[in-house]
Amino acid sequence: MSYSKRIDQIAGHLNYPKGMLAGQTAIITGSGQGIGAEAARLFANEGAKVVIADVDSKKAEAVAQQINESGGSAIACAGDVLDDAYIKRLIKEAAEFGGGKIHIIINNAGFTWDGVIHKMTDKQWHTILDVHGTAPFKIVREAAPYFRVKDGEPRNIINISSTSGLHGNAGQINYSLAKAGVTGVTKTIAKEWGPQFGVRANTIAFGHIMTRLTAAKEAGAFITTPDGQKVALGIPQAQKAGGPGEGQHLDIPLRRPGTATEAASAILAVASPLFSYVNGQTISVTGGRNM
Ligand SMILES: NC(=O)c1ccc[n+]([C@@H]2O[C@H](COP(=O)([O-])OP(=O)(O)OC[C@H]3O[C@@H](n4cnc5c(N)ncnc54)[C@H](O)[C@@H]3O)[C@@H](O)[C@H]2O)c1
Repeated sequence: MSYSKRIDQIAGHLNYPKGMLAGQTAIITGSGQGIGAEAARLFANEGAKVVIADVDSKKAEAVAQQINESGGSAIACAGDVLDDAYIKRLIKEAAEFGGGKIHIIINNAGFTWDGVIHKMTDKQWHTILDVHGTAPFKIVREAAPYFRVKDGEPRNIINISSTSGLHGNAGQINYSLAKAGVTGVTKTIAKEWGPQFGVRANTIAFGHIMTRLTAAKEAGAFITTPDGQKVALGIPQAQKAGGPGEGQHLDIPLRRPGTATEAASAILAVASPLFSYVNGQTISVTGGRNM
């Protein structure tokens, strides 16, 4: 047996905490794939017990299984964050899994349903506001008993935003409001739950990250709303092709989009003790876009 394996074994035997998130239970919504799934793997590597919350049950199960098979600890809790009953079940199951505690919530689930202003329907508008704004609020409200506590353990809420929320984006008036809104939600949590309970809350705004959300629309990915409507995901090829400088990412100083792992690494960093005095902030993870 190698020396490091032996040390691991002894540490395990002594129940010595391993990893920056050891002893913590984290809910990550939208962790069936993309940025959320990467975050789930990174959190598990750092010792967190991770609740894989996603509307896609097969993908959620697969992520949880992979984490468990590689020595981490995860459960899948599938459902739609637009469903109030699911939010209740999610918090209940997470608390049971965490032995009565929840330390981290990453509000990451979401999708886009784009349209220019004059063609945007009320349903498009409200669905996107509900997914990115109302659902995170309801999840945090439901989890209040696990965050308004004084047990000396860290508590952390991270809401995922976007450059569309900070700077606006043509064709995304619904998403822009929702993603702008979460920055205020975050700051309110920080101000309400920081003083007495030490809860940290931060927003992370991503730029262009390579996931299903930014893949070609022609790839055919879609998400189904609770009333059965299929919403196509991705960016139309013609729009991706863009104008001069196409493919060179001239709007990004690093001249490339980010990977899901890079995006998730920023989430881990903010959730970790390395960021213990960073609170109420909106952290841009964009390769320098929109400076
Ligand atoms: N990819 C980017 O460039 C980018 C940029 C800025 C912000 N974001 C944000 O990052 C987050 C993650 O997106 P991603 O790029 O990983 O996309 P993704 O499509 O790869 O993953 C999103 C996940 O959320 C789940 N989901 C969607 N709606 C849900 C619902 N109602 N209930 C439960 N689960 C739901 C999906 O099933 C999917 O697994 C989103 O909030 C998105 O708005 C992404």
